[in-house]
Amino acid sequence: MAESKMSGSLNHAMIDDSQAKAAQEAANHFGEPGHADITKVYIEQRYEGYSEENQETWRILFDRQMEFLADRASRVYLDGARSIKLVRDHIPYLEGPRSINTFLKQLTGWQSRAVPGYIPAKAFFACLARREFPTTIVIRPKQSIDYLPEPDIFHDVFGHVPLHADPVFADFLQAYGKAALTTNDPVHTERLARLFWFTVEFGLIREGGSLKLYGSGLISSPGESRHALESNDVDRRPFEIDRVCDTAFEIDHYQPILYVLESFQQLRDAMMTYADRLLDEHAAGCCGGACRGKGVQLGQPAARH
Ligand SMILES: [Fe+2]
Repeated sequence: MAESKMSGSLNHAMIDDSQAKAAQEAANHFGEPGHADITKVYIEQRYEGYSEENQETWRILFDRQMEFLADRASRVYLDGARSIKLVRDHIPYLEGPRSINTFLKQLTGWQSRAVPGYIPAKAFFACLARREFPTTIVIRPKQSIDYLPEPDIFHDVFGHVPLHADPVFADFLQAYGKAALTTNDPVHTERLARLFWFTVEFGLIREGGSLKLYGSGLISSPGESRHALESNDVDRRPFEIDRVCDTAFEIDHYQPILYVLESFQQLRDAMMTYADRLLDEHAAGCCGGACRGKGVQLGQPAARH
């Protein structure tokens, strides 16, 4: 893996090698004949594999970023972090009585599921469509605490998961997954990737007249979160879904353009409208709309019609 080459000390002991290999294989082939079971991409979090240094890295990251976020993150994010009992004392448990999933289940039905690493887009969308979030479980090495190019459990759980405790955001993200899973049109796939980038990863929201952070790429990054809120070099635009989907993004530096929501309802409603439009196009393309009349729901690949 790239990060192993970079630091030489990324700990993988919480992952079983042969289980990870099988799961990665399932992810890589998901959607092909004989590879329809998305649950095969999931692995176990072997919690005892985290080292004391891993736990210390989590505590340092948690303390530093939570203090910064206290008056800069969306209230919805902060409430979510409290609701799922995200704490500084230990790397989150995904499963079991003290797990974030126990709390999430009661709140919105979302779950975090451990995956071996990068999973291809269709498999990722299939997970979201089931209210399951593919979650990286390794944690960055202490010597790379400020920067890891790949997602880790700090980005995926600390950055993403608290919003999954909010019913409105929860519905948005599932609708996103269903829409993205349904379309096979590369134009829509690109537009949806941009929507994900400018909302889930790098979104801002206005609350009580102030700009607040909610995108995971901002929430989990001390440098970029400050830049997003304070820099004069950032073009902060009102959220408008078609404009967002028309905006290309760049990945290797701080974002020069960000979009600002007025509320998460605005995001959910825009997504629902877009998803409906996609389903209409998909239905017209596959069977002249007959499948819609039969009650086919978003998220079912064309092959099942
Ligand atoms: Fe992310």
